Amino acid sequence: MQEVTLRQPDDWHVHLRDGSVLEAVLPYTARQFGRAIIMPNLSTPVTTPSQAASYRRRILQALPEDANTARFMPLMTAYLTDDIQVGDLVEGFQDGVFHAAKLYPANATTNSSHGVTDIKKLAPVFRKMQEIGMPLLIHGEVTNPDVDIFDREAIFIRDVLKPLINEFSGLKVVLEHITTQQSVDFIRSMEGRVGATITAHHLIINRNAMFQGGLRPHHYCLPVAKREEHRLALREAATSGHPAFFLGTDTAPHPVGAKEMDCGCAGIFSALSALELYAQVFEEENALDKLEGFASLHGPAFYGLKANEGLVTLVKQDWQVPEHLDIPDGQQIRPFQAGETLRWKLL
Ligand code: DOR
Ligand code: ZN
Repeated sequence: MQEVTLRQPDDWHVHLRDGSVLEAVLPYTARQFGRAIIMPNLSTPVTTPSQAASYRRRILQALPEDANTARFMPLMTAYLTDDIQVGDLVEGFQDGVFHAAKLYPANATTNSSHGVTDIKKLAPVFRKMQEIGMPLLIHGEVTNPDVDIFDREAIFIRDVLKPLINEFSGLKVVLEHITTQQSVDFIRSMEGRVGATITAHHLIINRNAMFQGGLRPHHYCLPVAKREEHRLALREAATSGHPAFFLGTDTAPHPVGAKEMDCGCAGIFSALSALELYAQVFEEENALDKLEGFASLHGPAFYGLKANEGLVTLVKQDWQVPEHLDIPDGQQIRPFQAGETLRWKLL
């Protein structure tokens, strides 16, 4: 196949940041996707409808004016904290400002220090979200430093997520950026009740990539990439056509200097070539016919939205991912697969 045409895809998990970085990275996501679920982990977390509405305004103002990007729709989320106001969630959701709420276990990842310290204490919040149909998006890792970092997702499912889902049987849940066979098995066992996003990078690298020839900070993200058997399980899930699995890049820009340091930040920036990376994976798995479901149909169906009307076309054409992207203040971002040749190109 030399060409694939799909309904306009959406990205169900994106970090756009704010200010000058937002302006620098937004065009890449907006060029590729119709809508995106915007993560609320700014340095001041987005917890109220007014914060979300003003962040959405800043995003819309930062959009380039060309027709390819002007149609982009950011879908905002609330950041759950220990003292999140249920009234704010309800108001924001009912006014269409919030599309979901994001649960970060405290200190699980970048800008999560305001996250939830004890999930049990949020029971009234989950009860209300269940009642109004507001999706709960979960960063699924335990934070206990005694738990091996490669086991944190599997233990979260066993000890936190399963009890939560049992208690709130009507709550709409998305397990974000899954990285393990255990997550794939769990999602399948839920028969559509729980959705999962899968990143392009977790379909492409395993944990060896972080240590190939030396320490490779640009392959460090959270949840961290796992063993090869897990990568294969993710590829099988993504390309299976199962409607619970859908596209979420977790593209997460950090300046090069914040990654190449003694204690570097977690995050992989894939927005530049996201659809191309997914297309390559689906082609390798002989499943290009399943790409549209994964990228454009399953996500909207899970969120109760219509699929986009427009179409995008990818063609078989080699191109090289740039080594760096310039961002303001003389800084740079190193994109995922920098310097590598990709085989598909978004027209
Ligand atoms: O690698 C990651 N980067 N994982 C996350 O959960 C957060 C993200 C970020 O915001 O940089
Ligand atoms: Zn994320």
